Amino acid sequence: MRFKDRVAVITGSGQGIGRAYALEFARQGAKVVVVDLNEENAKAVAAEIQAEGFPALAVGTDIAEGASVSAMVARTVEEFGGIDILVNNAAIFATLKMKPFEEITLGEWNLVQSVNSTGTFLCCQAVAPIMRAAGYGRIVNVSSSVVMTGRANYAHYVASKGAVWALTHALATELGTDGITVNAVSPHGIVTEVPRETITEDQWDSILADQALKRRGEVSDMVGAVLFLASDDSKYMTGQTLGLDAGLRYT
Ligand SMILES: NC(=O)c1ccc[n+]([C@@H]2O[C@H](COP(=O)([O-])OP(=O)(O)OC[C@H]3O[C@@H](n4cnc5c(N)ncnc54)[C@H](O)[C@@H]3O)[C@@H](O)[C@H]2O)c1
Repeated sequence: MRFKDRVAVITGSGQGIGRAYALEFARQGAKVVVVDLNEENAKAVAAEIQAEGFPALAVGTDIAEGASVSAMVARTVEEFGGIDILVNNAAIFATLKMKPFEEITLGEWNLVQSVNSTGTFLCCQAVAPIMRAAGYGRIVNVSSSVVMTGRANYAHYVASKGAVWALTHALATELGTDGITVNAVSPHGIVTEVPRETITEDQWDSILADQALKRRGEVSDMVGAVLFLASDDSKYMTGQTLGLDAGLRYT
């Protein structure tokens, strides 16, 4: 119960890896806010948590819209009285169409940046006053190994996650004065319950060839590191990005 009395906002937790974070935070004592653009999914995950006997709130939110993020934060404070932990997990990811750089339209580019990087920025900005007032906060951003590999046909996504990586450094510097840590994880190759068009079986073979650990990742491979960064076990760490990548070679 290391998160007893902590309030944890997990964006994009209506499915996939975010759902796994939400469930484990709840099991370890946190009051969990399940935030997702897909409100039905958010409600389903909150109901799962409540069915296990833990408190949870579902808030349908578009993290790319400042007003929507502000409303989510206000609803959270009204329900649970504060925000101690923010996990910026939401992204346009499983639904993203891969395509050569020259074929990415400005609209597609802007949409991916607006959710993946601007959405992360907006959520950090909205919780910062609450965390500063409390003199405590844990922000965990979700970047990606593709920032280092520069994965082909993914330029919009790679750039958006590079911004998240860089924002982590910048906010760690600015928020550290008020006892707030800002760290990130860079996952790689995680299989979830959600089908994806972005990895074919052939690509999986070459991905595994580049990993030290020769297996596909699963959501449980992410949870421990993210909860570590959200806990007091990492209280002297900030501005770091942990590679959750099975020892992926980056050259
Ligand atoms: N699965 C992997 O291999 C992998 C690898 C590297 C990084 N990541 C990152 O990990 C995170 C979770 O990955 P996943 O596989 O569970 O992804 P996913 O696409 O299954 O889930 C993303 C969630 O974010 C939500 N979302 C999308 N746009 C939103 C918006 N505007 N506002 C609020 N919510 C929104 C979606 O509804 C969805 O529930 C993402 O940030 C992804 O980029 C995943």
